[in-house]
Amino acid sequence: MDKFLISGPCRIKGQINIQGSKNAALPILASTLLFDNAVVIENLPRVKDIDTMLNLLKSLGSNIQIYNNKKTVRISRIKNSKYLASYSLVKTMRAGILVLGPMISKYHKSITSLPGGCLIGARPVNFHLNALKKLGMKYEIKKGYIHASSKGKLKGTQIKFSKISVGATENTIIAACLAKGKTTLKNCAIEPEIKDLTNFLNSGGAKIKWVGKRTCQIIGVESLNQTRYSVMGDRIETGTFCVAATISNGDLKIKNFNPKIIQTEINILKKTGAKIKTSKNEIHIKGPKNIKNINSIITKEYPNFPTDLQAQFMVLLCKAKGRSSITESIFENRFMHVAELRRLGAKILIKENRAIIAGNTQFIGAELMSSDLRASVALVLAAIVSKGKSTINRIYHLDRGYEKIEKKLQKVGVKIKRLT
Ligand code: EPZ
Repeated sequence: MDKFLISGPCRIKGQINIQGSKNAALPILASTLLFDNAVVIENLPRVKDIDTMLNLLKSLGSNIQIYNNKKTVRISRIKNSKYLASYSLVKTMRAGILVLGPMISKYHKSITSLPGGCLIGARPVNFHLNALKKLGMKYEIKKGYIHASSKGKLKGTQIKFSKISVGATENTIIAACLAKGKTTLKNCAIEPEIKDLTNFLNSGGAKIKWVGKRTCQIIGVESLNQTRYSVMGDRIETGTFCVAATISNGDLKIKNFNPKIIQTEINILKKTGAKIKTSKNEIHIKGPKNIKNINSIITKEYPNFPTDLQAQFMVLLCKAKGRSSITESIFENRFMHVAELRRLGAKILIKENRAIIAGNTQFIGAELMSSDLRASVALVLAAIVSKGKSTINRIYHLDRGYEKIEKKLQKVGVKIKRLT
C-alpha cells in the first residue's frame, strides 16, 4: 500500500488549478443511465471514485470511451442493459446507490447493493428509498440487495424530505426526470454539486426548476437527448488548498473556481487572519504570521460550513493562538483524524460531537494512519507544517478524491514523495 513521506515545515507558494468536482461528477455520471443516446462529460477528476463509477456503469451496460487523459468520457447505452449494481463495486464507493434512481426510472427494474457503512458513519439510505417509493418504486431488501421494480413509469408527486440529504435529493431528482407528470421536492439539499447535476440534466432536455430555497420542481419528459457538459470545479479541494496556504503562512493563487461558492469558508479564513482577494474564477490567499482562533464552527448543510472541510479546519485551529471548537452535526463518527493529530502533538478534547482545540500547537512529525478521505488530507496538511519527517500510511483513501495531490503539492513547495 502506498504511503506519503513529508518533510516539514514548508510554506505553500505558487499557483494551482482545481480539479473537476468528484461530488458533482458522481451523480452526473450515474444520471447518464437515463439517456437514450451518447453524452459527453468533460473536466472529470482523475480519482479512484470516478473509475469505480465508470466500472459500475459499464457493468450496467453503458459503453464508455475515455479521452483527454481520462478527463473526458463519452457514454452511450447499449441495447441489452443489465440491472445488477454489485456489492463488489458499491461497497467501495457509497455513491453507487445513485444508480438506483435512474435505473428504476428508465428501466423500471434494478437490483442494487445496499452501500453499507463506512468509517464516518452508518450511512443509511432510508431517505432515498422512501422518496423513490413515493414515486412508485416497489422494493424489498434481500441478502444486502435492494430488489426494486415499478409498474411502468414512475408517477410524479409531492415529496418533503424529513431530513436534508445530498444523495437522497440527487437520486430523487434524477428519478423524477422521466416520471409521468410533475414532482415537487421540498426540504432538498442545495449543495452546488446538486445545482451542477440539475444544470447537466436540463442541458439534456430535462425540465427541472428551483422554485424555492430548498424546493425543486421536475416535469417528467419522454426521454433525454444527447448533450456535452463540463463538470464544475471541486469545492472541497479548493477549501483544502485555502487551508494549506493559511496554515503555512503561504501565498497561493487558486485558478478555475468560482469563489462565491465557498463564501462561508472564506469568511472564516479571513477571521483567522488570512488575506484573501477573489475575482470571477480565482482566489489569491495569503496566510497570516499568527493564526487567530475561532470560538465555534458548526458543520451544517450548504450554504453553511461543510462537514467535508471539518478535519482540514481542525488542523488549522490546532495552530491558532488560543482555544477553538468544532461541532460535527452531519455524521456520527467523523473525528477519526483527532487520534492521529494527537500523535503530532495536538491537544484536542472530544465531548460527544464537539471537539475543543487548545491551539498553540507545534506539530512534530510522526508516523500516521489515514482513515477516510477528508481525514487523510487533514493529516497531509498537518505534516506539511510539522517539524521533521512524517509518514502517512494507507493513502488509497486520499486517491479516492484528490487527483495526484503529491504532484500539486510539490509544485507549490512541499517536500512530499509517494512511496509505493
Ligand atoms: C454526500 O454524501 C457527499 N458524498 C459526502 O462527501 C458529504 O460529506 C455529504 O454529502 C454531506 O455533505 C457525495 O456527494 C458522493 P447525506 P451523502 O445524504 O449523500 C444521513 C466526501 O468526502 N442519511 O447528505 O451520503 C447520513 O447518514 C463525502 O466526498 C440518512 O440517515 O450525505 C448523514 O448523517 C463524504 N439516511 C446525513 O444524513 C439517508 O437515506 C447527511 O447525509 C441518507 C442520509
